Amino acid sequence: MRKDQTSNTIYDNHGRPITYVRLSVTDRCNLRCFYCMPEKGMKFLHKKELLTYEEMERLVNILVQLGITKVRITGGEPFVRKDLIKFLTNLRKILGTKELHITTNGVLTNSHVKNLHQLGVSSINLSLDTLDRQRFKELTRRDEFDRVMETFYSLLEYNIPTKVNAVVIEGKNDQDIIPMAELARVHPVSVRFIEEMPFNGDGAKYQSLTWNHRKILDTLKVRYPEIKKLTDKPNATATEYEIPDFRGNIGIIAAYSRTFCGTCNRIRITSQGVLQTCLYDGGVFNIKNYIRSGVGDDEIKNMFKKAFGQRAKDGFEAEKKRQISAIHESMSVIGG
Ligand code: GTP
Ligand code: 5AD
Ligand code: SF4
Repeated sequence: MRKDQTSNTIYDNHGRPITYVRLSVTDRCNLRCFYCMPEKGMKFLHKKELLTYEEMERLVNILVQLGITKVRITGGEPFVRKDLIKFLTNLRKILGTKELHITTNGVLTNSHVKNLHQLGVSSINLSLDTLDRQRFKELTRRDEFDRVMETFYSLLEYNIPTKVNAVVIEGKNDQDIIPMAELARVHPVSVRFIEEMPFNGDGAKYQSLTWNHRKILDTLKVRYPEIKKLTDKPNATATEYEIPDFRGNIGIIAAYSRTFCGTCNRIRITSQGVLQTCLYDGGVFNIKNYIRSGVGDDEIKNMFKKAFGQRAKDGFEAEKKRQISAIHESMSVIGG
C-alpha cells in the first residue's frame, strides 16, 4: 500500500486515494421511495444496532488521521435521527476546515438550514425526483413535496451549495427530466440525473436498466442542442454539463453502469456499522462489533488500512465477490 510522501493520504491496491467517507447515521426514513424501500417499510434497526454518535466521532477522528478529507452524512434520512445537529457540531470540531456534506430528502431539513450555514456545511445534496406534486406522492408514497421545496429555497437563501439528485425511473418520471433540468436555468444549483440501481430492499424484482446515462444525455441533447460537457472533476460520480444561459449546471451519474470506478476515492460505513469499500460489495467488515470488543485506535487504523489494501477494482468485481450473491439490501441501510 502506497502512502503519500507529503500528506497522509492512503492509496488503495489500485492506486486510488481514499479521501472520502460516507457515513450513514440511520436506516430510518420518513419517505418510502419505491426505488429504495418496499411500501410497508422494512425491519428497521434497533437503536443499539446503530453506531452511537460517540463511536462515529471516534471513527471519523481516526479516518482523518488516515487522510480522509471529506465526510458525507447520509441515512435513510439523517435528520430523523435525534440530535443530529449536536453530532454535526462535534464533527465540525473534529474536521476543522475539512469538508462536511449531507445528503437529505429535505422533509425535515428546513428548520435546520440556518444551523447548517453556521456550521459551515460544505454542501447539501437534496433528493428530489420530480417537480410535480402528485408524482412526488406516487414516487415517495408520502405527501411531502411542499416541505422539500421549502428546504430547497432556504438552501438558496443561505447560499449553501446545493445539488439536486433525481433518480430517473422508467415510465415513472422520465417526463420530469426537462422540467428538473430547468431548475438549473433559474437557480445556481447542479441538477443531477442518476441511473436507478437495484438497492430497493427487494432486488429480485429489479428490471434491467433502460434509462442509462446515454439515454438521459440523448434526451437532454434534443431539448438543449448546445449542452456542453465540462472537464471531469477529480473522483466525481457525476459527469457535468453546461447549457448556455443556465445559472447552474447538469450532472449525470452512471451509478449502475459504473463508469467512474477508476477514480473511486470513497468508503462507506453503513447504519449498522459495517464497512463497505464499494457500494456494491455488501459489506467487508463489521466495525461495530470490532470497536465494541474494546480495541484501541491503532488496531482500528490497521483494520482500515488492511481493508483499503483489498478493494475490488470496480463495482462489477465487488458485486461478483459478494458473500450473498444477489443485491437485496435497501439503499436506506447503505446511504447511497
Ligand atoms: P458529491 O460529493 O457532491 O459529488 O456527491 P456524491 O455523488 O458523492 O453523493 P450523493 O449522496 O449525492 O449520491 C448521488 C448518487 O450517486 C446516489 O444515487 C448514490 O448512490 C450514487 N453514488 C454515490 N457514490 C457512489 C459510488 O461510489 N458508486 C456508485 N455506483 N454510485 C454512487
Ligand atoms: N438507485 C439510485 N439512486 C438511489 N438513491 C436511493 N436509492 C437509489 C437507487 N435504488 C439515491 C437517493 C439519494 C442518494 C443518496 O441515493 O435519491 O439522492
Ligand atoms: Fe466506487 Fe464501487 Fe461506486 Fe465503483 S461502484 S465508484 S468502486 S463504490
